[in-house]
Amino acid sequence: AGPVAVRAEISYVMIKPDGVQRGLVGEIISRFERKGFQLKGLKLFQCTKDIAEEHYKDLASKPFFPALVEYILSGPVVCMVWEGEGVVKSARKLIGATNPLESEPGTIRGDFAVKVGRNVVHGSDSVENGERETALWFGKDGVVAWEPTIKPWLV
Ligand code: PPS
Repeated sequence: AGPVAVRAEISYVMIKPDGVQRGLVGEIISRFERKGFQLKGLKLFQCTKDIAEEHYKDLASKPFFPALVEYILSGPVVCMVWEGEGVVKSARKLIGATNPLESEPGTIRGDFAVKVGRNVVHGSDSVENGERETALWFGKDGVVAWEPTIKPWLV
């Protein structure tokens, strides 16, 4: 048998319509870049109801589900795939608690949001969902396989 290909960990991170409309795209991307993760997918995208409902399908029975889908459809989102060791958990830390009133200052939501229904950004909650959500939003071709040729911040 040949070498086993080990896929690095990825998280699907999405700047929601409020983040795009408030001009926070650069700020949010910058935080992930400065941390040391690698950007593997990026697009501005007006999402469809089908994709939004599939993305949040585990929440379909929640009372806020229709409002959540409407919010995600209310303008373009920025879809991203970030890769790196422990990126799923780390991205959630950079993003901060779901309810922005509980998010620590220094996190994205802690610095820029007040309402859970306008919490600026999404990050996958598990490695499995990182893969699932990336496949849903980017399909087979949207993610670029590349490695930095110098990575002094990782060694
Ligand atoms: S739950 O109830 O524990 O399953 O929900 P939670 O894990 O905290 O959040 C899951 C996603 O639902 C969003 N959410 C909401 N959106 C709109 N209105 C209300 N009230 C609301 N409550 C939770 C929350 O932001 C999570 O979305 P993502 O995109 O993953 O952050």
